[in-house]
Amino acid sequence: MFSPPTSREVVQLFPLPARKRRLEGLYLSESLPPPAAGAPALVYANFVTSLDGRIAVTDADGATRLPEGLTNPRDWRLFQELQAHADCLVTHGGYLRALASGSLGNVLQVGLGADGADIARWRADRGMTAQPAVAVLSASLDLPVPDSLAAHRQPVHVLTTAAAPRDRIEALGEAGFDVVVTGPGPWVRSRDAVEVLAGHGYRRLYLQTGPRMLETALRDGVLSRLYLTIGHRVVGGECFDTMLRGAVLGEAGAVRLSALYLDEAAGGEYGQFFACFEAG
Ligand SMILES: NC(=O)c1ccc[n+]([C@@H]2O[C@H](COP(=O)([O-])OP(=O)(O)OC[C@H]3O[C@@H](n4cnc5c(N)ncnc54)[C@H](OP(=O)(O)O)[C@@H]3O)[C@@H](O)[C@H]2O)c1
Repeated sequence: MFSPPTSREVVQLFPLPARKRRLEGLYLSESLPPPAAGAPALVYANFVTSLDGRIAVTDADGATRLPEGLTNPRDWRLFQELQAHADCLVTHGGYLRALASGSLGNVLQVGLGADGADIARWRADRGMTAQPAVAVLSASLDLPVPDSLAAHRQPVHVLTTAAAPRDRIEALGEAGFDVVVTGPGPWVRSRDAVEVLAGHGYRRLYLQTGPRMLETALRDGVLSRLYLTIGHRVVGGECFDTMLRGAVLGEAGAVRLSALYLDEAAGGEYGQFFACFEAG
């Protein structure tokens, strides 16, 4: 038996044997494999969830937010380490609107600030661009594109469908964004999105999206890895979001555990699991 982990450590519960691991570098040191044979890109996603599967709750005043206590600096560190591997971050219109309204913080750049210096170095050492490109999925094209993307010279690709308002497609094109109409719509299919982005040479795509994109990624079999932070907390609530909506997934929803870490030092009185599942 080993001594209890320090505040800088987590316990690797799987694969066995159990051992202590340093939190910082846990996901940076992972070797994300190249895309599977025949797959245009490696696609991975990350969610933070409660024990009862809540990823967001809606207040009495109608505002939707991440469940209280589920995010913390340790989860944030690993979120950034996953970003470090990405050639392209995939986000969506809902996030850009939440960012513009101030209800969510900025997660479109990686390795900024003193606590991200090692992540910036990690990318530079591997010959990666300082910042990943950004793909924005949107059906409505109601997109307040943040200035930070131009400030950090990040290529921006807007992916939509033929059902989107024509005037907005034109306006975004005139504003200099790469706008790609992928299919009839109303929603962009993950398979189409991956093909478009792989066509730009992006081999690692990090889905920073929500239930809608996760659903199509699982149904289309394009998701390779699903990272979960599972807070040791039951959230409840009348109105909430979970990782997925829509019809039952069946076999497309089967995933295989590849790593599980226990983090007892998450802050406050409760801990969290960091889990990684192989999909597809
Ligand atoms: N805990 C977590 O890890 C986590 C992770 C993700 C989200 N969340 C939270 O969960 C709640 C719901 O997530 P969400 O806002 O991401 O919901 P969502 O329903 O998956 O996406 C919201 C919007 O993004 C655009 N979009 C998403 N997928 C698209 C596709 N395939 N094609 C075209 N447009 C697409 C659409 O906006 P437009 O067409 O109108 O532009 C859509 O209405 C939010 O409160 C969010 O903050 C939590």
